[in-house]
Amino acid sequence: MKCLVTGGAGFIGSNLALELEKQGHDVIVMDSLKPVKKGNLKGFKGRIIKGDVSHPFEINEKLDVIFHEAAITDPRFEDDKEMIRANLEGFKNIIKLAQKNNAKLIYASTASLYGNGPVPMKESQKKELLSAYAKSKLMMDELAEKYFDKMHVVGLRYFNVFGPREAHKGRAASMIYHLGKQMKEGKNPRIFKFGEQKRDHIYVKDAVAATIKAIDAKKSGVYNVGTGIATNFNELVKALNEVIGTNLEPEYFEMPYDPKTYQSNTQADTTKAEKFLGFKAKYSLKEGIKDYKDDIK
Ligand SMILES: NC(=O)c1ccc[n+]([C@@H]2O[C@H](COP(=O)([O-])OP(=O)(O)OC[C@H]3O[C@@H](n4cnc5c(N)ncnc54)[C@H](O)[C@@H]3O)[C@@H](O)[C@H]2O)c1
Repeated sequence: MKCLVTGGAGFIGSNLALELEKQGHDVIVMDSLKPVKKGNLKGFKGRIIKGDVSHPFEINEKLDVIFHEAAITDPRFEDDKEMIRANLEGFKNIIKLAQKNNAKLIYASTASLYGNGPVPMKESQKKELLSAYAKSKLMMDELAEKYFDKMHVVGLRYFNVFGPREAHKGRAASMIYHLGKQMKEGKNPRIFKFGEQKRDHIYVKDAVAATIKAIDAKKSGVYNVGTGIATNFNELVKALNEVIGTNLEPEYFEMPYDPKTYQSNTQADTTKAEKFLGFKAKYSLKEGIKDYKDDIK
């Protein structure tokens, strides 16, 4: 199949583009390449288009599936208006492109839009928007809903993805990346007081598997992509110590964010994804870290 991966130089996008190519698909990557992510597409053989999806553009090749991963992804990006404009306009352009090609559309939503709502988080529950990022993704989901009965469109609410090719994200990279890096350097892992915050950490290979399964989703819709298991920061440090082979105590510090804008607990209800995507995460937290640990630099 001919696939387009927008945001294909980024973290999830590059892992996805490489896996699709490995599975024999013909893959085109489109990415603004701002900044250039060196090394993420090492070994990728397809065409790379440098371009911004949030402004009109054309791709004159017949596409079968579009994976839309491109977005401003740092929830603490300083310009709320631009965040919403870029993420929403980009999605509108991608819907048009999918319609023109009669292509299936799979796009990235986020678990951020559940805020500090009840866990495990269900797709249908009330949303709690703690950032413009979450708002932009909810607006995308609401727009997608209008097309559910007209085309194959699947939104994936990724939980906390970790794995190779995320280093360029800096502060927005996963906790596992940041803590793992500190611990590999022999430093005490720094976590917010007192490490009780929880995350549903999903390994990028599982996130990619769910994304590819979405091609054959039983129906259009929005689905959680998580493991269903929440791990607190103290337990995470313990798992990292065990896998990396260190014995480093956490160093606690005051959470610098306004608690009203900080998501302190995420955990997916995975029922809907299991039923309609046939997806269940394969990697446990420790298996994911084990597979990833040599890449944490
Ligand atoms: N990583 C996670 O834990 C996570 C969780 C929930 C949702 N998501 C979503 O998954 C998608 C991929 O996230 P990621 O973690 O790989 O982030 P990332 O920042 O590594 O990747 C995004 C890529 O999109 C590109 N991009 C941004 N705006 C663009 C534009 N207007 N036109 C073209 N390219 C553009 C960037 O250059 C980057 O390479 C995003 O939509 C993100 O919101 C990620």
